[in-house]
Amino acid sequence: MMRVLAINGSPRVDGNTFCALSIMADELKKHGADTEIVHVGNDLIHGCMGCGYCAGSEEKQCVIKDDCVNQVALKMREADAIILGSPTYYFGIAGTMKCFLDRAFFPNYWGGHFRNKIGAVVSVVRRTGGIETTNQLRVYMSATEMIVPQLQYIPVMYGRAKGEVAQDEEGIQIMKRHAEAMVWLYKTKEAAKDIVELPKAEPFVRTNFIR
Ligand SMILES: Cc1cc2nc3c(=O)[nH]c(=O)nc-3n(C[C@H](O)[C@H](O)[C@H](O)COP(=O)(O)O)c2cc1C
Repeated sequence: MMRVLAINGSPRVDGNTFCALSIMADELKKHGADTEIVHVGNDLIHGCMGCGYCAGSEEKQCVIKDDCVNQVALKMREADAIILGSPTYYFGIAGTMKCFLDRAFFPNYWGGHFRNKIGAVVSVVRRTGGIETTNQLRVYMSATEMIVPQLQYIPVMYGRAKGEVAQDEEGIQIMKRHAEAMVWLYKTKEAAKDIVELPKAEPFVRTNFIR
């Protein structure tokens, strides 16, 4: 059974992002997958300080240990698939979620624990900026070599007041199709496990242009 961890980056625990993630979780359940939704957007999360501690840490943990980041990052490591959900704040990821993502993903940047896991993202928006938020969320997944299914429409749901996205029928269909695509990808990966080798991690060739 695929274990999915869905991360709610909204400060409004029961808002539209939660609603979008719940639609995906319900659909995943229909296909036999188990989803846990964790809320990070309502926590007090410090931004990344760029200190580099995590890179040298065996467990790839952050030096700041008094918020949820390290604990949720461990859960992400155990999951088969990860969904990132964020409301759109000024055409991008909501601030607390950005702080969370920088710190949870940075130690996994190269050959880290999230490699080859299945991923999906969802953003909610009142009107404009959903594409930007979605693309920003996806960057974390590509930078850690996660596998993200693509569909014909990007996963954005529309609504302002809590729960309004439940009226976005097209968005609901997109959420469900994404969930289905995640399950298909997982089953394909499992079926191929002993037949096709996953791409191997390589040492990081780092070219910095200012020396
Ligand atoms: C600080 C802030 C900034 C926002 N920026 C945008 C924006 O750039 N574009 C937009 O269409 N909606 C914007 N919104 C509206 C939210 O994206 C929208 O209400 C969303 O449904 C909230 O999701 P939630 O219920 O999960 O918190 C903003 C809301 C807040 C509080």
